Amino acid sequence: MQLLNGKEVSAAVRERVRRETAALAEKGVKPGLAVIIVGDDPASQVYVRNKEKACAEVGFYSEKYALPSSTTQQQLNSLVRELNERRDINGILCQLPLPAHLNDKEVIELIDPAKDVDAFHPVNVGRIMIGDYDFLPCTPAGIMELIKSAGIETRGKKAVVVGRSNIVGKPMAMLLLHSDCTVEIAHSKTPNLAETAKTADILVAAVGKPKFITADMVKPGAVVIDVGMNRDENGKLCGDVDFENVAPVCSYITPVPGGVGPMTISMLMQNTLTAAKLQNGIRP
Ligand code: GUN
Repeated sequence: MQLLNGKEVSAAVRERVRRETAALAEKGVKPGLAVIIVGDDPASQVYVRNKEKACAEVGFYSEKYALPSSTTQQQLNSLVRELNERRDINGILCQLPLPAHLNDKEVIELIDPAKDVDAFHPVNVGRIMIGDYDFLPCTPAGIMELIKSAGIETRGKKAVVVGRSNIVGKPMAMLLLHSDCTVEIAHSKTPNLAETAKTADILVAAVGKPKFITADMVKPGAVVIDVGMNRDENGKLCGDVDFENVAPVCSYITPVPGGVGPMTISMLMQNTLTAAKLQNGIRP
């Protein structure tokens, strides 16, 4: 069994972005990212802080808008409209989840698709389905990068994605399909989920339930990707995969933490760089 080391691969991606950003500076272009966070969700605050840190590390300009939970939809919308018009802001990201009184769909659809570095806008989602895209959603893109970096063959392989969210499960299935896997999407209403999971050469767990994928659900030699970020019964960080018992069964596995997690922000940096290039007429 080999670990897919997200920290290492993520550092390599960031280094590549940093070098390209330095080269862009010579053309007078500095990628700019605006991050909006509404309310005081502690997990979101950590994510946003890490996104800002990553921007500084690779040499981007960044702005953080920390808005109170009392923010109205109109206020949020007008901020997005303003950022859409700014020449120095190439990427706009609104951290989810939003407080319950705000409509995330409305915000996402208001972001200029050219600045939608999360790739959540319906235009970008549609372009991913066609296979003609500029941005990929960060988590699935990070997973594909991890798979590629290990030299894992995807062509003709059976992939099972457990979970069907718009952010991870659905786009993940599409990217695996683009890379010539035969893909099945399983979810909470799938009968015999264990049996389905066990057919996978590449198994992606994105369910949000601690240690949900157990050893009996994994084909020997499978590649196991764990998107989960949960707390176990002792409050310890754990994934959707029962790592201790699954690891001995598979060929490759991502640890939690240190697997998929570190990749996501690096892919956000990559998307922001791409956005800056495209908006300045430079081919990515
Ligand atoms: N909340 C959890 N993951 C994400 C993400 O990738 N982007 C945004 N904007 N919010 C999130």
